[in-house]
Amino acid sequence: MAINTQTAGPVYSDAVVRQFAVAAVLWGIVGMLVGVFVAAQLAFPDMTFGIPWLSYGRLRPLHTNAVIFAFGGCALFATSYHVVQRTCQTRLFAPALAQFTFWGWQLVILLAAISLPLGFTTGKEYAELEWPIDILIAVVWVSYAIVFFGTVGIRKVSHIYVGNWFFGAFILAVALLHIVNSAEIPVTLTKSYSAYAGVQDAMVQWWYGHNAVGFFLTAGFLGMMYYYIPKQAGRPVYSYRLSIVHFWALIFTYMWAGPHHLHYTALPDWTQSVGMIFSLVLLAPSWGGMINGIMTLSGAWNKLRDDPILKFLIVSLSFYGMSTFEGPMMSIKTVNALSHYTDWTVGHVHSGALGWVGLVSIGSLYHLIPRMFGRKSMYSIRAIELHFWIATIGIVLYIAAMWIAGVMQGLMWRATNPDGTLVYSFVEGVKATYPFYVIRLGGGLMYLTGMVIMAWNTIMTIRVGKVEPVAIPAVAAHA
Ligand code: HEM
Ligand code: HEM
Repeated sequence: MAINTQTAGPVYSDAVVRQFAVAAVLWGIVGMLVGVFVAAQLAFPDMTFGIPWLSYGRLRPLHTNAVIFAFGGCALFATSYHVVQRTCQTRLFAPALAQFTFWGWQLVILLAAISLPLGFTTGKEYAELEWPIDILIAVVWVSYAIVFFGTVGIRKVSHIYVGNWFFGAFILAVALLHIVNSAEIPVTLTKSYSAYAGVQDAMVQWWYGHNAVGFFLTAGFLGMMYYYIPKQAGRPVYSYRLSIVHFWALIFTYMWAGPHHLHYTALPDWTQSVGMIFSLVLLAPSWGGMINGIMTLSGAWNKLRDDPILKFLIVSLSFYGMSTFEGPMMSIKTVNALSHYTDWTVGHVHSGALGWVGLVSIGSLYHLIPRMFGRKSMYSIRAIELHFWIATIGIVLYIAAMWIAGVMQGLMWRATNPDGTLVYSFVEGVKATYPFYVIRLGGGLMYLTGMVIMAWNTIMTIRVGKVEPVAIPAVAAHA
């Protein structure tokens, strides 16, 4: 395979960026295929076929782990390694250790793909993997931190670009969250018990769970946003000062919002209120960041008309704004009394996951892949355009169906007759949800189809894409 010396020369260590970028596309398809399968099981429960490892309870955590840590994780590794080298004007610190993070992370994914369907789980959401895998994750993550911060340490420019602050906060916070929440007492190789008990266990778990959203699903992707939107638009960040305020306000506020996952539980009431207040405050930095990203296009709005990569990046920010408006509203206790346990939560999750995390990763990868393989552009721009529309319509179908279903469920569950008895039995709620599950399945299938188009486009770009003709020295080209 011909690799352009512009990016693969001695200056930057891009082999690992290429590996993670291709892995992100592959795991995106796998994780979303499992998502489509579990969505189909909710509409057609017989799809388990009597096979234990195909059961919903085992495949659902496989879906969440695959999309968040395999797809999202590989996209974050690829882009952070790419961005930190360009903005620090130096190659990766310890490239061999970076290679270790690639193979180590793939091993984590493989072990998850085997152990979760076999039914091995800690039972903690987004932290289901058992203790030997937890140790491997910690080792890979510390190595990642060494490579990333080592690269920042050997930078050739004095300033540390804001994107690196977001990537850095994501790496440090995830290390802290993972190590604290995974404290457990092993009993056998495949079974352990949490080191915490009762309400403390719940509190630690949702401190972890919410910050997994704040740092894994948000801060790292904001790092991507701050590099790839200005690059793709050919404009500087709208307000660099706002980006710094955005950073500090966001990382300070996220840490305290976790109890909104535990409203009306045995958690002391004042902790729930603290969680709610910090969640409401979180609206401000989130929208500050969104506005900063979107306004980067000012003076260049016309580019949005015919650049599908920019469409991915900008529309991702719209979904970011939408889910970070909805989240604070859902954290208000009286609203949560309606939304909790319903599909409204699932709709909120996927407006963030498909709309924000998915679209910003896809847009960034479309920017990155041709450059990493020495190509002028992706093989087919029309296929990117098609991907954009299929994905966007798919998201709208998915989240609108879940919103309607969720509010309907909440209202049906709380409806009482004058004598205090329930108006609807639970199964009537399930029956009424059925059409919405079918619509969600359709939306999910569309989103997955978009990923398959992306995989085809990626393969064609690597195999037959036009080779970039200009040979500019790497550092100058990416300054
Ligand atoms: C083709 C695309 C996708 C489909 C069809 C899909 C489908 C599903 C389904 C059916 C569930 C279970 C909902 C339930 O328990 O009632 C689920 C849960 C979840 N999915 Fe997806 N998903 C997709 C993509 C993604 C992506 C890209 C992400 C993250 C980047 C994601 C993150 C999650 C999370 C975090 C949950 C757990 C939600 C909760 O506990 O409330 N999904 N998904
Ligand atoms: C200002 C920002 C946000 C706030 C205040 C917020 C708030 C909330 C609230 C109140 C819930 C419902 C908790 C419950 O009833 O159990 C929730 C669930 C969730 N949110 Fe958000 N959200 C925000 C942004 C996001 C974003 C951008 C994403 C994804 C990228 C996301 C992913 C999730 C997930 C995965 C859950 C489900 C957790 C579970 O029960 O498994 N959130 N969020």
